[in-house]
Amino acid sequence: MTELKTELARRTLLSTAAVVGTFIATTPFAQDKSSKTETIAIIGTGNVGTTLGKAWAAKGHRIIYGSRSPNTEKAKDVIKNTGNGASVVAQADAAKGASIVLLAAPSQVALDVVATLGDLSGKVVIDAMNAISFKDGKMIEPDDQVGLGAQIQAKAPTAFVVKAFNATNSRVMSGPKEITGGSVTVPIAGGDDKARAKVATLATEIGFDVLDMGGAEALKQVEHLGRIYVAYAVTHRPQRLEFNFRTWKT
Ligand SMILES: NC(=O)c1ccc[n+]([C@@H]2O[C@H](COP(=O)([O-])OP(=O)(O)OC[C@H]3O[C@@H](n4cnc5c(N)ncnc54)[C@H](OP(=O)(O)O)[C@@H]3O)[C@@H](O)[C@H]2O)c1
Repeated sequence: MTELKTELARRTLLSTAAVVGTFIATTPFAQDKSSKTETIAIIGTGNVGTTLGKAWAAKGHRIIYGSRSPNTEKAKDVIKNTGNGASVVAQADAAKGASIVLLAAPSQVALDVVATLGDLSGKVVIDAMNAISFKDGKMIEPDDQVGLGAQIQAKAPTAFVVKAFNATNSRVMSGPKEITGGSVTVPIAGGDDKARAKVATLATEIGFDVLDMGGAEALKQVEHLGRIYVAYAVTHRPQRLEFNFRTWKT
């Protein structure tokens, strides 16, 4: 009888531990407390996506790429090059599994892509895209009053959109100082302070300086900086421009 009681008590203890264990493992708060690393979905496996993916993976972050073709040889190479347990899945599945989503697709399809990503509520959405097109080697600026970042925010109103990484070259993202020989500033803007702070941390971790331009009203200013950046690259090839801003107090 005593043995039976002891066994029952042991089983109760084990099942309670299992329930508590499950709770701890699946509660986002518990996950955040135990680790400073992030799970980052990167939409687009091109120059920007894979370069930032590799740089963040090297800092311990888990990268889930969202691709239109996740089962190709190219996708396998991307996983291998990125390391640290990176994966490639369909775009919507990538966004679902991450609290941070980097948009690194062509700007022309940006709003359609955002519409297919599912519920982005509470996620930090980094917009690295420049709404620029080219004709006969010339840069064509869009005639929009609103700006791409604001349009993305309107499309995903409960997400925290931060414009960043649009005003630097993708190669530079693999090591700003090593590639350019000096400090490189990434200007950022977005309506939520904590989201901007998170993106600023992600940028500094991989070697950038950050210029926090401010809230949603500054999204377009960062987009203008992106255009200045691209305009210089177009007219001064093979010379590139990188921003290195300093702030000072009056
Ligand atoms: N290149 C730079 O130096 C640089 C610097 C700063 C910002 N940017 C901006 O960052 C964005 C990406 O530039 P990138 O140079 O990385 O371009 P990219 O090399 O052409 O890569 C874009 C990726 O987006 C995905 N994609 C292509 N067409 C798509 C579509 N119709 N729908 C959904 N996804 C599509 C593709 O990935 P999958 O095949 O895996 O779907 C593709 O590899 C652009 O908006 C650009 O303005 C570029």
